[in-house]
Amino acid sequence: MKRIAPSILSADLANLAQEVQEVTEAGADWLHVDVMDGHFVPNITIGPVVVASLKKVVKIPLDVHLMIENADLYLDAFVEAGADILTVQAEACPHLHRTVHAIKERGIRAGVALNPATPLESLAYILDELDLVMIMTVNPGFGGQEFIVTMLPKIKHLKQIITKRKLKVEIEVDGGIKTDNIGKVARNGGDIFVAGSGIFGTPDRAATIRKMREAIGK
Ligand code: DX5
Ligand code: ZN
Repeated sequence: MKRIAPSILSADLANLAQEVQEVTEAGADWLHVDVMDGHFVPNITIGPVVVASLKKVVKIPLDVHLMIENADLYLDAFVEAGADILTVQAEACPHLHRTVHAIKERGIRAGVALNPATPLESLAYILDELDLVMIMTVNPGFGGQEFIVTMLPKIKHLKQIITKRKLKVEIEVDGGIKTDNIGKVARNGGDIFVAGSGIFGTPDRAATIRKMREAIGK
């Protein structure tokens, strides 16, 4: 199943409820929430309190992307706030297997994100336990960066591994996705498409989501 997940990082945060309503009415499947700690990435964004507020007004799943160190310390806070999917960065989790299990034990979906320079091989022994792998197509930290095209073969290779091993893992792709490249990402094996500036930075978000859907054939 192909899904579109607008990232609120590029929304007008002073009008968050309205912004989120616009994209959910336009048919967004998941809402992507970028959590940054100023340590793992050079930017600070939002935390569990915002997730809890969103939970009251958003009906679609909250897809929470933790770009933070010491993620284990914050899992409960995000689950209690209403996260439906928690994705951690492989590079920030020295005990990744434990962290993934801790997320799943809390009854929600678990994902692992890989920075552009992190090889797929780092997930070889944990892949079948994941609900999703997030391929970062920018170096995380900021919205509005350019899609790194050399990540397309990485997505394709991951898709081949998943197919060969008959796994149910989905591939989420995050960073620089726009109406003009989303089709290519889908053809290379992407299932879930995160777009921040590519949706919120356009004047007619509903039209943008429609165009994206056409491009991914859904
Ligand atoms: C990157 C974040 C992305 C980002 C995507 O650090 O993880 O989710 O918001 O924004 P765009 O689509 O503008 O690259
Ligand atoms: Zn993200």
